[in-house]
Amino acid sequence: MEGIYLIAAVGQDGGLGADNQLLWHLKPDLEHFRQLTTGHLVVMGGKTYRSLGKPLKNRPNLVLTRSRIEEPGVETFHDLTELKQAVASLEKPVYIIGGASLYAEFLPLAEKLYLTEIAATKPADVYFPQFDPNDFHRRELQSGESEGIKFTICEYVRK
Ligand SMILES: NC(=O)c1ccc[n+]([C@@H]2O[C@H](COP(=O)([O-])OP(=O)(O)OC[C@H]3O[C@@H](n4cnc5c(N)ncnc54)[C@H](OP(=O)(O)O)[C@@H]3O)[C@@H](O)[C@H]2O)c1
Repeated sequence: MEGIYLIAAVGQDGGLGADNQLLWHLKPDLEHFRQLTTGHLVVMGGKTYRSLGKPLKNRPNLVLTRSRIEEPGVETFHDLTELKQAVASLEKPVYIIGGASLYAEFLPLAEKLYLTEIAATKPADVYFPQFDPNDFHRRELQSGESEGIKFTICEYVRK
């Protein structure tokens, strides 16, 4: 197994989204996401897939859903255990791209977290799961400001 990586943008209170939409669309964060995940498997829940509206390009998309999705570039899983077994058996990096329910399920299996920590809050209805920062080494990859909002892109590597 190569590694399971979670990638998310989180507000100061851990907020991830509201009304099935992202809270922020900061260009440097979207570019970081594109660079890191392009060419790699991405795994998401059905709600995140619907909020994207189409598969992400140039990456195999694995979607956990109870519905039927017939779309080129998308492989669906209807069973969480099956998805976990499939992901764990891969010899490739796998990026878990949300939403909250998928992050919660895969956090215990994750070797790395890529968190864009946004120095702001907005009303949210889904949150990144709690984790113990002492379980990880934290490294800041990029800090900046976009649209007046400060952010830091961090890599957490499990100790
Ligand atoms: N800030 C970020 O980086 C980031 C990233 C991604 C998403 N988000 C946000 O997160 C929110 C969505 O997160 P969410 O937790 O509500 O939804 P989600 O994790 O994206 O998807 C939940 C869906 O996954 C499927 N699912 C979950 N467990 C399942 C199981 N055991 N068996 C079969 N299917 C299962 C179901 O899909 P079906 O309904 O299709 O059956 C369920 O409705 C949105 O607001 C989105 O914008 C934020």
